[in-house]
Amino acid sequence: MGRVEGKVAFITGAARGQGRSHALRLAEEGADIVGVDICAQIDTVPYPMSTPADLAETVALVEKTGRRMLGLEADVRDLSALQNAVDRGWDTFGRLDTVVANACTLNGNGPAWELSEHQFQDQVDVALGGAWRTAKATIPALIEQGQGGSIILISSTSGISAEINIAHYVAAKTGVTGLMRALAADLAHYMIRVNSIHPTNVRSPMIENQPTVDLFAGGRPGFTFEHPEIKAAFQSMNLMPVPWIEPIDISNAVLYLASDETRYVTATTHVVDAGALAAFKHPHVE
Ligand SMILES: NC(=O)c1ccc[n+]([C@@H]2O[C@H](COP(=O)([O-])OP(=O)(O)OC[C@H]3O[C@@H](n4cnc5c(N)ncnc54)[C@H](O)[C@@H]3O)[C@@H](O)[C@H]2O)c1
Repeated sequence: MGRVEGKVAFITGAARGQGRSHALRLAEEGADIVGVDICAQIDTVPYPMSTPADLAETVALVEKTGRRMLGLEADVRDLSALQNAVDRGWDTFGRLDTVVANACTLNGNGPAWELSEHQFQDQVDVALGGAWRTAKATIPALIEQGQGGSIILISSTSGISAEINIAHYVAAKTGVTGLMRALAADLAHYMIRVNSIHPTNVRSPMIENQPTVDLFAGGRPGFTFEHPEIKAAFQSMNLMPVPWIEPIDISNAVLYLASDETRYVTATTHVVDAGALAAFKHPHVE
């Protein structure tokens, strides 16, 4: 028996990165997956976002585990698209147990007062509005099913502590942490648990891209993600001597919170951060 055998998980941002890894890890442990992703670019995001081919690859990888996956294009800023995805998932699998609100972007960077209104609004709409819409679209099915459930909101260390040059992201992810607590309070009566996960740097396309490298290089040209100075800058954010962790490290936390092993765990901030939140130093990038 897998740890989530027979459950159905709804995952946003499932085309690549951590969302793909969550889909695979839950499938390996017996879950079927409904995975949605925008599969398109948002113009305030300075690095390439996912494509339809990415989502198709996640579906193929899940199917290799022997489980089923419904992959659908939907933007978490579009409530009716999410509700349609939930309906199609219900028609396909006939149940819903786990919700992972994972989709997010990093809409550029800079000192708080230099971010544009457009950047700030996009960030909050995707990260915080998207998490709320994902909850709103999925909760009626969980309640109607009447067997409890687990909602997992992917926040960040930025949802607990400040980071330099990303005030919009810090604000949105801190909002996600508050949303988690409020949802947990509203849903406890239904035995629906709600928890957030707070990763440090995770090696995914969100950080493994040139604009992020340029930020960590302080605008100096010629640096790559693997450059020792860049790795050292990332590493200085963590206590443990690693610059970043891998998507599977977060997927294992998702699996734990999705499983019945955590049947009385709700309203918690689950930190997977190589000690980042306790670390003394943060890189100072101009
Ligand atoms: N990578 C990191 O260092 C890091 C650290 C802490 C937290 N996180 C969080 O982890 C989660 C996963 O990010 P990742 O690292 O896998 O990044 P990623 O960019 O590889 O994946 C994010 C996915 O979300 C999708 N997405 C973005 N906006 C969307 C929208 N409006 N509607 C639907 N889908 C959308 C993207 O297309 C992409 O496939 C995010 O919530 C992110 O904020 C990441």
